[in-house]
Amino acid sequence: MQVTIPLKQVIDNSYDITIDTIKPVHYDTKVAIITNPKVAGLHLAYLLTKITAKELYIITVADGEEYKNQDSINTILESLFNHKFNRKSMLIAFGGGVIGDMTGYAASIYQRGISFVQVPTTLLSQVDASVGGKTGMSNSYGKNLIGAFHQPKAVLIDPHFLTTLPAREFGAGVAEIVKMAVTFNREFFEFLENEDLRNPNILQEAIKQAVQTKANVVAKDEKEHGIRAALNYGHTFGHVIENETKYRKYLHGEAVAIGMVMANDTAVKMGLMKDDEALRIKKLLEKYNLPITYNIVDTDSFYETFFLDKKSSDSAITFIIPVGLGDVKITDSCKKELIISVLDTFGVTS
Ligand SMILES: NC(=O)c1ccc[n+]([C@@H]2O[C@H](COP(=O)([O-])OP(=O)(O)OC[C@H]3O[C@@H](n4cnc5c(N)ncnc54)[C@H](O)[C@@H]3O)[C@@H](O)[C@H]2O)c1
Repeated sequence: MQVTIPLKQVIDNSYDITIDTIKPVHYDTKVAIITNPKVAGLHLAYLLTKITAKELYIITVADGEEYKNQDSINTILESLFNHKFNRKSMLIAFGGGVIGDMTGYAASIYQRGISFVQVPTTLLSQVDASVGGKTGMSNSYGKNLIGAFHQPKAVLIDPHFLTTLPAREFGAGVAEIVKMAVTFNREFFEFLENEDLRNPNILQEAIKQAVQTKANVVAKDEKEHGIRAALNYGHTFGHVIENETKYRKYLHGEAVAIGMVMANDTAVKMGLMKDDEALRIKKLLEKYNLPITYNIVDTDSFYETFFLDKKSSDSAITFIIPVGLGDVKITDSCKKELIISVLDTFGVTS
């Protein structure tokens, strides 16, 4: 005997991403803005001139990657229970990628899922983290190992917030913009080469192009069964660098910048990228003071750390290798000797 639950679903979860000054909006429900003290101090007053709700609460959690954990999620959930949030209530993620990931995750599990809106305030979260519905938190086993795919109802990207962003955080966001261009859009890469993102109009155009690129990829592969993994270009190497330096020395985007250089060197060795293309990417990263080199003390140990990557299996490591400028290859068949020969060029004596 067999019982079938017909679960073939056609759900329209489409949502809009607005890149502009936030237009005043009123939500006729309970809303909680999830933020941290730094972002609240800088920008909450501005946000409250734009957003009103039937009942509006502010929930703050500690600032920092190390607080992207269960304790912060519990703080958010307890506050929602105390204020009797129900399934029609809504959350607003107001901060960088850390706040965005945690708010999305809390929204995905509170009463089995409620709506949330992303209001990203760092460049990295505006061009990458707020788009695509990946949410989560970290634990002692590693970064982003717990989470859910839960798409926001809307993303409100207001360039106003970037005026207070420290230069290094700005650079970290640029690294993710470069990532989108190298993997999917040669024309966009050339635009970045020729223009200066410190000009607000140029920056707004670049945010639009990066978001459009990510939106196209997510629309094709929401849950990362294929092409979405290409957005991890630079991350396979970058995660090892973050791990070796205990997440203290480099911002995520900075580690990704070095990781992209390593992936490019691999591409050159595989005959997938020309030397001068790899050089052009390096120059673009340097233009925004991003690091492009790293001293690997022990290449074997660096290589073994690849296996902690979520995309890798017990025996194979998934590498995202650029193909020229504007295309990309996802492969788990890079030979160990080839990768080691790339890593050796980053050794302490280099
Ligand atoms: N979900 C995804 O698809 C995705 C993609 C990329 C990254 N991420 C995650 O995003 C996180 C990194 O995001 P991030 O780089 O935004 O870091 P972050 O959220 O830690 O923000 C960086 C710092 O900038 C501060 N800040 C935020 N807005 C500011 C502003 N307008 N002015 C001044 N300071 C401001 C923050 O309080 C924090 O101290 C990581 O946890 C990463 O895993 C998620």
